[in-house]
Amino acid sequence: MLTKVHTGLEPVQGNWWKPAHKAEKVWVAIAFGWCLVLFAMMPLWHWKGGQNPSGVRTRVDPKAFYARTAEFARQYRVGSDRGLPIVQPPPGADVYLTAMTFQWYPILQLVRGQRYRLHISSLDNNHGFSLYPLNVNFQIVPGYDYALEVTPTASGDFRIICNEFCGIGHHTMVGRVIVLDSAGREIARSGEVR
Ligand code: CUA
Repeated sequence: MLTKVHTGLEPVQGNWWKPAHKAEKVWVAIAFGWCLVLFAMMPLWHWKGGQNPSGVRTRVDPKAFYARTAEFARQYRVGSDRGLPIVQPPPGADVYLTAMTFQWYPILQLVRGQRYRLHISSLDNNHGFSLYPLNVNFQIVPGYDYALEVTPTASGDFRIICNEFCGIGHHTMVGRVIVLDSAGREIARSGEVR
């Protein structure tokens, strides 16, 4: 037995051509109105909500940025942890952090309450910067230097988790930020070679 096949030459069954019910029109109008509200929220949130870091963004050569980061790490190195330098820049300094498959270079050591200009970029592909357990979330794109004005408000030993899938070692891409207390004292931590 042949199955009835619908072609574009004949109209489909049903009553789709009849005007929409009043309730449907009301719902469409409500949804459209809500879309406009959310659309207006985007710029509003940017200027009023304080959720978007309004940093300076400039184009940068990824290799040059990494070279600058290495120079920064050599200049202010105070120790090391599993081969990665621990770097403590003076307050107010420009701080450099490079994301690469699959690590964050170097380990930053900052002082609570001091202001820094944090430059972040990537050497290879897209990575995601999220500072655990704080609510800081940022996308890192190669070729761009994101300079963020940061003032650590909590001391502790924090982890940078990559939250953008970047390859086979994505889940191992964990970095470290140490924030000393406002007197510059170290906090208790373990598993580190100095
Ligand atoms: Cu880097 Cu995922």
